[in-house]
Amino acid sequence: MILLQIRLRGFSPRCDYIRLSTMKYSFVVLCAVLNAATAFIAAGPQKPAFASHTATYATIEASPIETKTKAPVFDEVCDTTGVTLTRFMNEVAMLNPELRELTTLFGAIDTACKAISNLVKRSQLPSSQTLGYQGEVNVQGEDQKKLDVITNDLLKRALRFTGRLGVLASEEEDEPVDLIGQKKDENQEIIIEDSGKYVAVFDPLDGSSNVDAGIPTGTIIGVYEHDDNCEIDPDCVDDDCTEQEAACLANTLQPGTNLIAAAYCLYSSSTFLALTLGNGVYIFTLDEAIGEFVLSKPRVQIPRSSSIYSFNEANLEMWDEPMRETVLKWREGTGKSGKKFSSRYIGSMVGDVHRTLLYGGVFGYPGDKKNPNGKLRLLYEGAPMSFIMEQAGGLSTTGKERVMEIKPKVVHQRVPVIMGSADDIQEVIDAYAAAESK
Ligand code: AHG
Ligand code: MN
Ligand code: MN
Repeated sequence: MILLQIRLRGFSPRCDYIRLSTMKYSFVVLCAVLNAATAFIAAGPQKPAFASHTATYATIEASPIETKTKAPVFDEVCDTTGVTLTRFMNEVAMLNPELRELTTLFGAIDTACKAISNLVKRSQLPSSQTLGYQGEVNVQGEDQKKLDVITNDLLKRALRFTGRLGVLASEEEDEPVDLIGQKKDENQEIIIEDSGKYVAVFDPLDGSSNVDAGIPTGTIIGVYEHDDNCEIDPDCVDDDCTEQEAACLANTLQPGTNLIAAAYCLYSSSTFLALTLGNGVYIFTLDEAIGEFVLSKPRVQIPRSSSIYSFNEANLEMWDEPMRETVLKWREGTGKSGKKFSSRYIGSMVGDVHRTLLYGGVFGYPGDKKNPNGKLRLLYEGAPMSFIMEQAGGLSTTGKERVMEIKPKVVHQRVPVIMGSADDIQEVIDAYAAAESK
């Protein structure tokens, strides 16, 4: 079992923006202060802010500070152009040898996100072949855009040739794809390492219906450990599979609490990559001049309360009653905080969650009368984004239970998701609990 308790160094990229020539003395002092502050923050890894949703009127427990790790300080970080994702992962691997294999996987994610960012940007040029519909419908009955298919292939190829992946599941694949038992396809042999195999789940292009209007889109990725004992016959399909083979493919059906890493890429005014390895959330921004993701926001913390909600409000009349009532109160300013809320909704989960993380607030796609499980998919939308949200100090709930604790039964299972600032989400949890006890 890979420890979720990982060690991370105290980066302080802010130092890079200070000009050495004019501010030499104050620069040294400022770097020392920033490094000390970052090291202090990094030394106290956080736990998800709540332990369970089961208690009626559950309250948020203060998490005890665990200090199992040291956070070394890099003085030289102030002299560099910043901490790249590659360097960050190398440092993580040096401090946590059990996570070494993960650096290869993140190398592939790094490249895939840059490539997808480029595809999305170029898709609006008249010469582009990536616009419009593919003409196929995916297993969930949704039109697949060409970009959905292209980005799925891109991510799949990037990840499978790392040799670190056993099984993957994607929004755009009908079934989980076994990479170990897979026959040599085309001309390319996939070499799978014996150790350190992972399961990856992903939504290659979240919000793809927004692409043609130039609205932000994203990629969501979750990484689980793979069961090393899994042997799958390459010819096994559906009922041909033995029980054990089916169970191995079902390696993808793990609850969010088993995630060892989650990441999203946001293709917007900048390209961002946010990740968690179970010890805080780190956001990198693509510096197009050097083609590298550079750490721009270490240890992101979502504000504890806010006054922004982000829902498709057109569905309000159909929502679960506690959700509807809570949002109506927020609209009027009669909720727990007494603040009058504003509404912000892009319609791309990654974009909406990214803003929620930085500004605070509530993002949700609740259950309603027509769709009791909402719209979002548990495996590659709900769980990885909930892991990131919790690691930034927020909460994520269906209203009745913690999203991270739900074990998926099928790959494309939907789940109600309400996530964001801890106090505001607690208000939602309390409203559901109160309705239940009536
Ligand atoms: P996808 O493009 O991967 O199918 O996901 C779209 C999702 C999600 O990004 C967003 O939060 C939600 O659909 C928006 O749904 P509505 O258009 O119903 O508001
Ligand atoms: Mn999506
Ligand atoms: Mn998608």
